[in-house]
Amino acid sequence: MQIKFHEESRLFQLDSKNSTYAFQINEGGYLVHLYYGKKLSSLQGLEKNAFRGVYDSLSPQNPYVDDPYFSLDIAPLEFPCNGAGDFRISALSVRGEKGDTVTDMHYVSHRILSGKPGLSGLPAAFGEEGKAQTLEIELTDKVTGVRAFLLYTVFADFDVITRSARLENGGQSPVDLERAYSACLELPGMGFDCIHLHGRWAKENTAVRHPLQHGLQGIQSKRGMTGPNHNPFMALAAQGAGEESGEVYGLNLIYSGNFAIDMEVDDRGVTRVLAGINPADFRWRLEPGEVFTTPEVVLAYSNEGLGGMSRTFHKFYIEHLMRSAWAKKKRPLLINSWEAAFFDFDDEKLVEFAKAAKDLGIEMLVMDDGWFGDRHDDFRALGDWQVNEEKLKGGLQSLIKRVNDLGVSFGIWYEPEMINPDSDLYRAHPDWAVCAPGREKSLSRHQCVLDMTRKDVRDNIFQQMYDVISQNNIEYIKWDCNRHISEAASLSLPPERQGEFFHRYVLGVYDLMDRITTAFPHILLENCSSGGGRFDPGMLYYSPQIWASDNTDAIERLSIQFGASLCYPASSMGAHVSANTRTDISTRAAVAMWGTFGYELDPRLLTEEEKEAVRAQVADYHKYYDLTHYGDLYRLNTPTENPHFCDWMFVSPDKSEALYTRVIMRRPGKVYQVQRLQGLDPDRLYKDEETGEVYAGGVLMQAGLDLSARQWADLGDGTCVVKHFTAQP
Ligand code: DGJ
Repeated sequence: MQIKFHEESRLFQLDSKNSTYAFQINEGGYLVHLYYGKKLSSLQGLEKNAFRGVYDSLSPQNPYVDDPYFSLDIAPLEFPCNGAGDFRISALSVRGEKGDTVTDMHYVSHRILSGKPGLSGLPAAFGEEGKAQTLEIELTDKVTGVRAFLLYTVFADFDVITRSARLENGGQSPVDLERAYSACLELPGMGFDCIHLHGRWAKENTAVRHPLQHGLQGIQSKRGMTGPNHNPFMALAAQGAGEESGEVYGLNLIYSGNFAIDMEVDDRGVTRVLAGINPADFRWRLEPGEVFTTPEVVLAYSNEGLGGMSRTFHKFYIEHLMRSAWAKKKRPLLINSWEAAFFDFDDEKLVEFAKAAKDLGIEMLVMDDGWFGDRHDDFRALGDWQVNEEKLKGGLQSLIKRVNDLGVSFGIWYEPEMINPDSDLYRAHPDWAVCAPGREKSLSRHQCVLDMTRKDVRDNIFQQMYDVISQNNIEYIKWDCNRHISEAASLSLPPERQGEFFHRYVLGVYDLMDRITTAFPHILLENCSSGGGRFDPGMLYYSPQIWASDNTDAIERLSIQFGASLCYPASSMGAHVSANTRTDISTRAAVAMWGTFGYELDPRLLTEEEKEAVRAQVADYHKYYDLTHYGDLYRLNTPTENPHFCDWMFVSPDKSEALYTRVIMRRPGKVYQVQRLQGLDPDRLYKDEETGEVYAGGVLMQAGLDLSARQWADLGDGTCVVKHFTAQP
């Protein structure tokens, strides 16, 4: 890791282990991007890269650069601004006191810091001295007086650069930020495929890949939350790059609200990528002296294809993003009551669940929705976070004691951001539900969103949660969020600040999460938003695991988990074995093993045979815990591209063991089934623990593992093959 400033050429060089990122201050004080890619041993000649394309007579010449061929319209820029001659998408647009939006930022100074500073009010990657180094560059706009501080952090052990911007009004009058992206990535040319994750409820994170085209393209959320529709992730893969080869640039935004990843391929065939807060429905008033901080973007570079990029993200998030003590601590194997009981439970039923679960080796019972207020269905009571003692006779303390006495720990469900109109909280504070003045509220799942921009609202919810959690032995919280925001406005904001609503909402959620996790650091927080509707790095900062989907069908889960694995580690993916019987219970377990692993079924209804299977799965969970939680993931056959199989494997960092899984989605016509493995040491011998057969790593990776012999007997639709390989001394 090294950040260097070459005085003579005024060139910044940011080196990670395998990548170099370089840009230069030109004579006009603009930051001109030069290079991002495989590590360079010398930068000799790189400055030529500042000139991109032939000057176009329609492009404005720049008054600050004494070169008739220089135009902002064609220059590759680190932080492109609006209105001063660059007609492409811009990272920053400020409306000044005179009403125009011309924004023209020039270099003032820079400093290099050891470690990584935090971002005020926002989740962000962390890294202490020796692990990270940060470059802060100050720019200013001379007319509005707005200053931009661009932050670039390079990490010692990862091919990762994080970027964000701090904007300060150093002028005398208020200004409005109308676009405030976090980072810009200028790519050489347009020969890239764009890979992103789209979806919907119960079908999150489906990966798609398509070539870039001329013009604008991108993904966004305007839902107030990230949403399952698009994940704030994008990979730009050089055409021809595959799972394990080729150059890939990954971008992931540490943000849980309205985001945008925008791309523009201009008339020269050059690509600009912006990532940050969605400018739609955004406008932020900055009074003189006020500061605005953009969320952080994580840039990962790989020249080992998508697989290399994913492994970088996975380890980076465990080491530098998940701040919970649970990031690297063994998680309890849990059973959740939702699919087993929905709203229909009482203390007796839960204790029976705990008893049956204990008998199977399960370690924690999570009581899902339905334990509070008058909650018997999803029409009422959100906001009334007092224990329903008609259901839980004797109260929560008594229930938890009975569960704990069985040797089972206890977790609980909350949906802190929501309120039902049929609730005591709503009756007392109808104005706390988000709604624009004069509008009807559109309900979703019979509920409204609480105005999290308001401190009084957050204080109330915090206090209600605090009262329950502090008085009970609760060791886990599932934080749910089951609707998006319409009629967005806050009664506490003046008209000229309503454009701040969506971002203030997210800041409010982060504040509440911060208060809860700070007050109860021992608690394992699992995020959820109707499944994986808010599966993003912002949430990972607080909750090291996120329920990946309400869809617990093992076949459907394959594309969901495959997609999520592009940037999120297995240890973060909430995955349970449910009672969904399309596949055998062993296949359901094999798929859930690629995640946090747990159960989502009524344990009392299992047959003796299923109970035996579950006991074996529990043993496997412990046996393979380190491998699946900290091992390197290799995706071999993706379910979105291969209609028959889905194959993946985890390899321990020292390559001494590997867990290979194949799920047969639809049995193929062909008998020949040889699968090449990945990630092993070619020079070591590996034993198949099931058969005792020994193979050279190179044979398994080059000639492949022959599964043909098993085909017709064992490999029917919905079945799986799981193989544990151990390196021989
Ligand atoms: C949606 C979640 O995704 C489910 O797991 C469950 O917690 C329900 N909400 C409860 O209402």
